[in-house]
Amino acid sequence: MTDRAVETGALGTPESIARALRARSDVRPAAAIVLGSGLGVVETRVTDPMVVPFREIPGMPGTSVVGHAGRFVLGRLGGLPVLLQSGRFHAYEGHPPAVLALGVRVAAELGASVLVATNAAGGIRDDLEPGALVLIEDHVNLTGLNPLVGPVQEGETRFPDMTEAYDAELRAIVAASGARLGETLRSGVYGAVLGPSYETPAEVRMLRTLGVDVVGMSTVPEVIAARARDMRCVAVSMVTNRAAGLSVAPLSHEEVLEVGTRAGARLARVLEASLERLAGAQSMEAK
Ligand code: HPA
Repeated sequence: MTDRAVETGALGTPESIARALRARSDVRPAAAIVLGSGLGVVETRVTDPMVVPFREIPGMPGTSVVGHAGRFVLGRLGGLPVLLQSGRFHAYEGHPPAVLALGVRVAAELGASVLVATNAAGGIRDDLEPGALVLIEDHVNLTGLNPLVGPVQEGETRFPDMTEAYDAELRAIVAASGARLGETLRSGVYGAVLGPSYETPAEVRMLRTLGVDVVGMSTVPEVIAARARDMRCVAVSMVTNRAAGLSVAPLSHEEVLEVGTRAGARLARVLEASLERLAGAQSMEAK
């Protein structure tokens, strides 16, 4: 496993990167979709895809994590125009918060008003076994990082309300779409940690006490940036392992990828069906 060093070249702005994408595709995304580990299969479901590798976009950093590609895909999923980010940026790679939120800000620049985030996570609550799909109902940010620190960016609010960071209506759409496919989505609180080491058993006991149901190393910076731009958010965790100390097996990234790939295929179907419903709802609204 060779990690590429995080590049230090000048970072593009959301505007400059949106411009580069506009030059490559006419798709004007209604939703941004950020794919977590093992969810690459979602890409194959995009119709009329325009694939733009990050390295072809000036000012776009590269990802360095095995299991995370590095490209945008513009196209339609479930009939809805989308910007897919395949390969997300994590703070543990050494990326600053601005990079973690860059894809979401680019999507907002392109007109997206919905964020769909996915991730792999460790299950803490007793019923959250590997393979469970969990609709995030709220989060606890334990990373100490926030992409809104610094000057207020064009189009963002300084103090976004996070009372309903995860949109109730979108959650209901995803839950109903899953149910129709025979997938029961649970609901839970996501705890974001910095990583990249997994938690200790003592930390997992602490997280449980804090009301955290699943633990992971992503998603929260993206949701915060999306809320600052008034985007509606929905996020789903795939439980890839019981959190540290809750099962006898030691944790490994390979296990996370393997379970993630299997659960990812199920989540991909749920997401596509959800976007179909959302596309239907939006065309109703437009009437
Ligand atoms: N902890 C943190 N992040 C994770 C885990 C975990 O157990 N599993 C997948 N991502």
